[in-house]
Amino acid sequence: MMDEINKRKSYRNFSGRKIEEEIIYDVLEAGRLAPSCYNNQPWHFILLKGKDKEIINEYLNRGNSWAKNAYAFVVIACDPETDCNIDKIQYALFDCGLSVENMLLEAYHNNLIAHSIAGFDHEGVKNILKIPEKYSIPVIIVLGYPEGNEERKRERKDMREILHEGGW
Ligand SMILES: Cc1cc2nc3c(=O)[nH]c(=O)nc-3n(C[C@H](O)[C@H](O)[C@H](O)COP(=O)(O)O)c2cc1C
Repeated sequence: MMDEINKRKSYRNFSGRKIEEEIIYDVLEAGRLAPSCYNNQPWHFILLKGKDKEIINEYLNRGNSWAKNAYAFVVIACDPETDCNIDKIQYALFDCGLSVENMLLEAYHNNLIAHSIAGFDHEGVKNILKIPEKYSIPVIIVLGYPEGNEERKRERKDMREILHEGGW
């Protein structure tokens, strides 16, 4: 298995240490290169670094206040009108998820930690960043170097619960 998949966990032990520009852009580039339905690419990334990201602090849910320690936020804006709609499935959020996972894995590849959060005031963040009305903000990726070590158990359903070989 890919090392990055094994290493990636949603850690919270962020340091404010600056991330080198080229590494941040590698992470964003990984998001840009993700596959999407008909190559529609429904994502936009709003990058907030250092002091600039403090604008979001007041919109974080209390349980996510650890995110204030990180160096950067990548706010994901997803355009539901710019993607496939097949059999009542709207693929925009699906495709934004692929883009986010690419960024998480590229972050771990560069010894960063990255943590998606949905726990924030979505309307508040949309307004303060002047994101156009039609977009939704599924997650903010919290990005930074780790400080010390955090123990985090991996908890997943057993493969036997989710795998159906040869049919359901
Ligand atoms: C869409 C989404 C929203 C999430 N929102 C939060 C959040 O608001 N706060 C938080 O601490 N973790 C959040 N997480 C992290 C999940 O709790 C975490 O991915 C899950 O527990 C599995 O753990 P792992 O990522 O370490 O493997 C979110 C993850 C995803 C994919």
